[in-house]
Amino acid sequence: MARAAQVLKSGALVAFPTETVYGLGADATNAAAVARIYQVKGRPADHPLIVHLSEMHDISDWSEDIPDYAIALARNFWPGPMTLIFKRSALAQDFITGAQDTVGVRVPNHPVALALLAEFKQLGGKGIAAPSANRFGHVSPTSAQAVSEELEDYLNPSDLILDGGASSVGVESTIIDCTGTLPHILRPGAISEAMISEVTGLEVSKEDSTIRVSGSLENHYSPSAEVLLDKAPNPGDGFIALSDIATPPGVVRIASPKNNEEFARVLYAALRSADQQSLTRVVVHQPSGDDIAVAIRDRLLRASRGR
Ligand code: TXA
Ligand code: MG
Repeated sequence: MARAAQVLKSGALVAFPTETVYGLGADATNAAAVARIYQVKGRPADHPLIVHLSEMHDISDWSEDIPDYAIALARNFWPGPMTLIFKRSALAQDFITGAQDTVGVRVPNHPVALALLAEFKQLGGKGIAAPSANRFGHVSPTSAQAVSEELEDYLNPSDLILDGGASSVGVESTIIDCTGTLPHILRPGAISEAMISEVTGLEVSKEDSTIRVSGSLENHYSPSAEVLLDKAPNPGDGFIALSDIATPPGVVRIASPKNNEEFARVLYAALRSADQQSLTRVVVHQPSGDDIAVAIRDRLLRASRGR
């Protein structure tokens, strides 16, 4: 951990595990280090990055105008799979925010991520900027192996990948815009609308947000295989469905999760395995429900480009 924190401080990149997906980290105050994230990911430079923090008190370094409901969210769900968007402070420069006036912050719930953040803080670090550790538009990695397969051709010898096992949640954090009078979900995740309403005592805003989220582009989270939703599969197709759904004849069953949480946890590894097995099509039977299933259906819709 001490070495990894030094690597970040020196301006190199450290890929690290979080409970959602693996992140590709850089010192969030170092413009050149952050520029390398964009290069390694092949990501357009105007897309903002989430700043990862070791504890909720650090949000005051990065943001201003923090509403009471956001404090309630942070107290209840951090460390955890939730990113909050605030008006930025002067520390959050254009190379972090994509030149918007807002900044996204998150305290992740993974022992390796928290240890890295604590060590980095000891060295004077203010926060670690980290997008998901995949090439732009691809499926997010949920294991160190997947990070290495995705990025090994683009990383330098001075960069590191930390292995913290498989991510326990498996889909990216819920992103909540906290710049209005009501919380507004920009990207669904494990922290559901009902959970947000329960701890804030507020309705979740349904107005259109003007804030851009790159994960809301179509054609995101995509494997090479064609993803088809809720269709009858052909023999030879990959097939992902809850375990109580029988395997149609001739298909390649690539996942049989027992519930929605497990569905989220295994989904990205299953899509990667479809590519490794050179399957050309994967049929996914979508889970129902208003829990993490909302996030699963959101990612699947983008992975399927609406098919
Ligand atoms: O679970 C996660 O959130 C993972 C782990 C590594 O923490 N990170 C992640 O980062 O998914 P990324 O960059 O792949 O997706 C972050 C999303 C992007 O769609 C970005 O546009 C949005 O967060 N975002 C970041 N800062 C923002 C801001 N100031 N305003 C609006 N959206 C923002
Ligand atoms: Mg991403």
